[in-house]
Amino acid sequence: MKLEVDTSKHTAGIYIHIPFCKSKCVYCDFYSVPNRTNEISSYITSLLNEIELFSRLNKTSWNFDTIYFGGGTPSLLKPIDIQMILTKLDTCFNLSKIKEISIEVNPGEISYNKLKDYYNLGINRLSIGCQSFDEKVLKFLRRIHSPLDSITTYHLAREVGFSNISLDLIYNIPNQNIDDWQEDLETAVGIAPEHISAYALTIEENTPLHTMIYKQKCVSKPPEDIGTEMFLLTHNYLEANKYSGYEVSNFAKQNQECKHNLHYWNLDTYLGFGPSAHSYNGKKRWWNANSLVEYRKMLQTNQLPILASEILSKSDKYNEAIMNGMRLKNGIQLDVLRNLSNHNFDELLKSSQNKWGNFLLIENNYLKLTQAGRLFTDEISSELFVDK
Ligand SMILES: C[S@@+](CC[C@H](N)C(=O)[O-])C[C@H]1O[C@@H](n2cnc3c(N)ncnc32)[C@H](O)[C@@H]1O
Ligand code: SF4
Repeated sequence: MKLEVDTSKHTAGIYIHIPFCKSKCVYCDFYSVPNRTNEISSYITSLLNEIELFSRLNKTSWNFDTIYFGGGTPSLLKPIDIQMILTKLDTCFNLSKIKEISIEVNPGEISYNKLKDYYNLGINRLSIGCQSFDEKVLKFLRRIHSPLDSITTYHLAREVGFSNISLDLIYNIPNQNIDDWQEDLETAVGIAPEHISAYALTIEENTPLHTMIYKQKCVSKPPEDIGTEMFLLTHNYLEANKYSGYEVSNFAKQNQECKHNLHYWNLDTYLGFGPSAHSYNGKKRWWNANSLVEYRKMLQTNQLPILASEILSKSDKYNEAIMNGMRLKNGIQLDVLRNLSNHNFDELLKSSQNKWGNFLLIENNYLKLTQAGRLFTDEISSELFVDK
């Protein structure tokens, strides 16, 4: 399949998916396979083939400034694997403007020496998947690390020299109360990372957690008012500690926002490699097979491992601009929305303002949500959507 790749003045990102984990967490529906780390070397060969094949079929002159190794568990990769991937990317694309190379790291699964090697290869941002600092919560989530593992991995990374570290946390977990969550936030802030991602637990279909809650009914989600309280606590506490909630679930010290994730929220272009990875060229979105077998099979016959693609209509782009822009603290430029709308945008905005009054703000030609309005991000956004 040949894909038209738009040349863009905007900066762009590269995502590399590593679909292996030591074991599967109870809540996770990201594409990853447990107990198959012996297949990593052959996977790297397929991944390098995919990158090369894509670049042969599509000449890109994009201005790449970020690379993100996500998963799965990319910290299972040996430094030589990372080096081979970066070298291949460098021969296929122009990486001269890369500013940020991130990798997701699972606590307790990485040594000082491996961190040092990653650092020396140019990785300059770590995202450590702590999830919680509460032993019982980690056990419930079927995480295989302890709270101490998270702290140790963080300090090892500092010793190595990493100056841009993010911690991933999850809240609104069955049997977690407000005090538990407050303690997690305090522990995270106490070790002073540059960035914190705090996600409300999503109960994804086809996960063991979904079965436990909706079929076996052996656990239940915290009541809605507790979820609301945890959301408000997260925003108030982190903002008070100088972590700006630049996105509804992401908080950063000044100038420490994740540049790569901002590409997604700003609807910039990006390329994704590996099973289940998505790409976007400004007109078309396409995504890879989410099966290692299918992924390998397609590459063996010199085909890109693309499962499907869609061309975004003007309405699709408008809806995506609303969906992503309203998650951002800075909001979205009104002119962008007006240019993307086939409908009478100002009328739609007016009726939303009538309904959501104090929660919607227009400032310097940007549409955004107030701090209180961010609790209703999804509801308010969906009212501004248009039919395709
Ligand atoms: C897919 S994981 C990959 C990183 C790494 N394997 C880990 O577990 O830390 C990226 C992040 O997504 C978040 N996440 C995954 N599933 C989630 C869910 N169902 N609800 C909320 N957050 C979730 C977790 O915070 C996790 O750190
Ligand atoms: S949350 Fe992370 S470690 Fe757990 S299964 Fe998902 S990708 Fe793997």
